[in-house]
Amino acid sequence: MCGIVGAVAQRNVQGILLEGLKRLEYRGYDSAGMAVSGHDGQLARRRALGKVAALEEKLVAAPLSGHTGIAHTRWATHGRPSEENAHPHQSGERLALVHNGIIENHEALRAELEADGYVFTSETDTEVMAHLISRETGRQGDLLGGVQRVLARLDGAYALGVVHADEPGVVIGARQGSPLVVGVGIEEAFLASDPLALLQVTDRFIYLEEGDMVRLSSAGKVEIFDADGTPVTRQVQTFEYGDGAASKGGYRHFMLKEIHEQPAVIAAALEGRLGERSALVESFGPEAETLFGKVRQIHVVACGTSYHAGMVARYWLERYAGVPVQVEVASEYRYRRVVVPEGTLFVTLSQSGETADTLAALRFAKQLGYLGSLAICNVPGSSLVRESDLTLMTQAGPEIGVASTKAFTTQLTALMLLTLALGRVRGQDADEQAALVEALRGLPAQVGEVLALDPAVEALSAAFAEKHHALFLGRGAEFPVALEGALKLKEISYIHAEAYPAGELKHGPLALVDGEMPVIAVAPNDALLDKLKSNLQEVRARGGELFVFADEGVALEDGEGIRVLRLPRVSDALAPILYTVPLQLLSYHVAVLKGTDVDQPRNLAKSVTVE
Ligand code: G6P
Repeated sequence: MCGIVGAVAQRNVQGILLEGLKRLEYRGYDSAGMAVSGHDGQLARRRALGKVAALEEKLVAAPLSGHTGIAHTRWATHGRPSEENAHPHQSGERLALVHNGIIENHEALRAELEADGYVFTSETDTEVMAHLISRETGRQGDLLGGVQRVLARLDGAYALGVVHADEPGVVIGARQGSPLVVGVGIEEAFLASDPLALLQVTDRFIYLEEGDMVRLSSAGKVEIFDADGTPVTRQVQTFEYGDGAASKGGYRHFMLKEIHEQPAVIAAALEGRLGERSALVESFGPEAETLFGKVRQIHVVACGTSYHAGMVARYWLERYAGVPVQVEVASEYRYRRVVVPEGTLFVTLSQSGETADTLAALRFAKQLGYLGSLAICNVPGSSLVRESDLTLMTQAGPEIGVASTKAFTTQLTALMLLTLALGRVRGQDADEQAALVEALRGLPAQVGEVLALDPAVEALSAAFAEKHHALFLGRGAEFPVALEGALKLKEISYIHAEAYPAGELKHGPLALVDGEMPVIAVAPNDALLDKLKSNLQEVRARGGELFVFADEGVALEDGEGIRVLRLPRVSDALAPILYTVPLQLLSYHVAVLKGTDVDQPRNLAKSVTVE
């Protein structure tokens, strides 16, 4: 998704902006650009299609120099990926603008500007804003006021950064529906879509609120105005993660590093949140005890991998906390009439806390009479966290690889804590809870044991690299694990993969099974194992090639058409977390064999901040 960086510094900003763009690469993009207000009072711009490296080459050939600038990575929405459509967009030679989001009324505004003689050089909705602001600023000669008057005319979502050659040393930022933070430096000030982009220059951030505008100027001056234009003070927060989080730390890819971080981050997600025999309800905030006591049902809403975490949690919450649960993708939920029974808790799951559909679903839900909202999220200070009644941070640390790994397993860990907390408040079986707590304590080490199977998983990957399709099967809470396994394979290796509850095999997908269709089964030794085994027989009988992830107690052996990978025994409840790990590794190795861009797969974005 589009990324913004801006700076008003004591030094030349080109290096700061370029490093910021590199750090935003993980969000997914197709072109990049930069505009700097030069020492000569002129504005200069460089743009390139493709990777930030392509922009860097242009900057090496023709460097930019100045103390004020903005930069952008674009993920195409209006208009194909091209240099003309890349940001910054200019109006004439004096004003440049970068934007993340979508302006819904851009067509009417474009027609108005064309009638006024403006000539467009791109197909984007963004260029409309550049001309509008230029026109407004020209009328009254002040950039902040110009931006403010134009924002009042826009429908849609945006975060933006604007510079004007007539106001050197000033960057204007604004947010409405897309994330934007201010980085506070020493006599310098910065702007970015994500604090990660600025960790090389500061660890102090102001998270702008919806409707905020900011004016950064020389000597690090930061002035913030709320949606009514009233000057406001917003708290400066220190970023918790060290800068090391944004480097690969010796791994070939961020995704591999993040897979291997799972024992540590699962331990972090549990830290301070487990009592002797249950979870500490206060981990969810001081009001949690009272609120949880009133919960009669739960609606979980999320997107992508986070949605799969919600699907696993449904099995847990119903089984161990006795609460009815409904799980839905946010883009569907927000556009239908939802019936909310009394005592329903609204739960959102999100790695980024900025996913447009999930955020919109929360805002929609607030009008529907829910008991309250809980966000399980990985990014402190994100919009979802700020707008929810209760929050639980997943403590995964920054996740850079577009394909989510550690964010998913820490979400599951957090959701098991929620299951325990609700179970406790609702007076569910205390011994069962104590057993789950015991199992959770051993989980980081067990995930470590599974990671040690990496060479064996890698050995399986060759069987997939030449295939075009794959089928994943699971039953019970392992069905969403199969869905997540299929999603990982699709995302990074571009192999078409589907997942089914194993019992559905003979109702359709069995027709697809032949020697060209590898079938992956997630088969812990649980109550459904015998049923799953019969499903596997159905695959073998059709010549399908089986890859079974099973534990030590499962009586299945390697043989013709079947390969079995053994995992350590784990409690039934925690199997979804443990069995996710080999599927992550499998997708990773297949993608490496295929030579795809593992950390930044084509067409995908890490944080989808547009609808
Ligand atoms: C994008 C990412 C996925 C992620 C989904 C939801 O599609 O590529 O990895 O699962 O958004 O993101 P969230 O930040 O809300 O969990």
